[in-house]
Amino acid sequence: MEMNRQGNVAPDGEVLHPSLSKEAKETAEKLRALAQSDRLAFWGEMSKDITWFKEWTKILDEGNAPFYRWYYDGQLNACYNCVDRHIKGWKKNKAAIIFEGELGDTRVLTYWDLYREVNKFANVLKNLGVKRGEVVTIYLPMIPEAVIAMLACARIGALHSVVFGGFSSDALKDRINDSGAKILVTANGGYRRGKPVPLKNNADTALQGNQCPSIEKVVVVRHTPDDVPMEPGRDLWYSDLMNEAGLYCEPEVMDAEDPLFILYSSGTTGKPKGILHSTGGYMVGVHTTTKYVFDCKDDDVYWCTADIGWITGHSYIVYGPLSNGATTVLYEGSPDYPAQDRFWAIIEKFGVSLFYTAPTAIRLFMRWGEQYPAAHDLSSLRLLASVGEPINPEAWMWFYKHIGRENCPIMDTWWQTETGAHLVTPLPGDTSFKPGAATSPFPGVEVDIFDEEGNSVKPGEQGYLVVKSPWPSMLRNLYNDSERFLNTYWNQFKGVYLSGDSAKRDEDGAIWVIGRVDDVINVSGHRLGTAEIESALVEHQAVAEAAVIGKKHELKGQAVSAFVTLREGFTGSDELIAELKQLVVSKIGALARPEDIFFTSELPKTRSGKIMRRLLRDIAEGKVLGDTTTLMDPEIISSIKDKYDKEAG
Ligand code: PRX
Repeated sequence: MEMNRQGNVAPDGEVLHPSLSKEAKETAEKLRALAQSDRLAFWGEMSKDITWFKEWTKILDEGNAPFYRWYYDGQLNACYNCVDRHIKGWKKNKAAIIFEGELGDTRVLTYWDLYREVNKFANVLKNLGVKRGEVVTIYLPMIPEAVIAMLACARIGALHSVVFGGFSSDALKDRINDSGAKILVTANGGYRRGKPVPLKNNADTALQGNQCPSIEKVVVVRHTPDDVPMEPGRDLWYSDLMNEAGLYCEPEVMDAEDPLFILYSSGTTGKPKGILHSTGGYMVGVHTTTKYVFDCKDDDVYWCTADIGWITGHSYIVYGPLSNGATTVLYEGSPDYPAQDRFWAIIEKFGVSLFYTAPTAIRLFMRWGEQYPAAHDLSSLRLLASVGEPINPEAWMWFYKHIGRENCPIMDTWWQTETGAHLVTPLPGDTSFKPGAATSPFPGVEVDIFDEEGNSVKPGEQGYLVVKSPWPSMLRNLYNDSERFLNTYWNQFKGVYLSGDSAKRDEDGAIWVIGRVDDVINVSGHRLGTAEIESALVEHQAVAEAAVIGKKHELKGQAVSAFVTLREGFTGSDELIAELKQLVVSKIGALARPEDIFFTSELPKTRSGKIMRRLLRDIAEGKVLGDTTTLMDPEIISSIKDKYDKEAG
């Protein structure tokens, strides 16, 4: 492409990169100008790319804020937008999903194939008695059936609740019970680094002894050669059901504000919360951002490496790309199986042009070495993107040089499960990039950085990253918990959305996201609540109290680190550490396994009894202790520090 000349690094580290194209530059200018002049008109304009069964006439209802309603008298179906509308023209035969299995098996589903499969599975769900508004839990590996199941739910107006395949049976059980799901869709197994992932066994454990009373049927996809026990009357093979299902299922006409899905995500306290997204606003948000942030075009091959179990998979593997009629790559395995060049081999194999991944993966690739990407033809790439945590400038530059070969701009996209779609990101029409900065609000999004009093901070100062006005793809509520919804997001600054992140603006106005300010930690781009891990630890008979922190980690961003006090009669040992780690794995999943566990006789607490995790983090990271004046007993913290420095430091 002619415009893609060599990038230039300015003395301050800024990367001057030619705009992706003249058109991308004009588009960025046009979008920003429109949003600037009339924010709501901008979102009205963006909604025109969505196919509405009934056009909306009212764009935003703020009457019951923060329970906002967008496009609320419009009607549509998300599945229709992702599938049906593309089969009417040439896209009928276009690849919708390119699936690459860990073993190297490839399956391509055209839009027509996807249409057929989704219609049939929608009929399967209906035949099993699923009704509009009911919940279906999906616990699957990264296989096309996961996308088919999600879209089939959307087609019949059922809500899907996808549970990441890496979560344990306990975590699955909690999520099923919170949502009251009627059907569970799982697989006999998945693959991870050549080893089987026992999804069906986990599901059986979750359901045993009527622990999930709402579940009536379990649909099992046969993905691995492994045999699994099937409970008569409850468990049904996906393939058997599909063989009998009718070929067409009329899409439900959904109101814009009807919920589309629930996705559980970790919060500061208690159990994960069910984040609820609506149909109309969500579709407008993910469609628009996929189109403009990724410059997604008809001839692109787009690959997002996230798992479908996270919001990135929902918005940017399924709904955003498919709504745009794009080709989306689905890869089941890990980046180092069978070798550390697997990602680059996949890009080369399918001619991937748009590539979206996470900083934690990039840091891993840096460690493995540039010889792996260098051995592959990556010339099909034209745009790169990053998500999940702040990208450190070194990783940004490595990504830019060794993957993009200085020919691809990088979109550092900041957003959250709650926001549904990107909120802060550069645009492909930009010509100057600051490695490490998420840069600017997406057009039509009003982001600010507040101090404690709710005033905008000055350039260079750190503060709370907030969103000052509603946006279409915002979460609508927490499932069955409006009070927590209000307390978590809306009560600190009235009428303003609190993201839980801190950020700063530089002199040029670019936004730099720093990280969470609450008790949520980010391990390899996975969001975990310290409270969840602590409650797993205290279930062990030896544990009196536990405090979990996210400790800086070179590859993972943060690693789980636990401080534990023991009950009378118990002493710390390597065996106990191993047992506690295993307990966390069984309660939550391997992603939450503590990197280290440190036994202490006491934990630092405030006078009101709150554990001061901030100080424990200072200790674990070898920093000078922060403010200790609110501690009940300041002595304790220095003795923990001495012991830690001696034993663990
Ligand atoms: O701390 C921010 C971080 O990930 C959190 C959201 O996590 P989750 O809801 O699991 O969604 C992840 C994918 C959107 C945020 O509160 N985060 C995400 N993207 C970035 C980021 N931090 C800095 N820069 C980003 N680009």
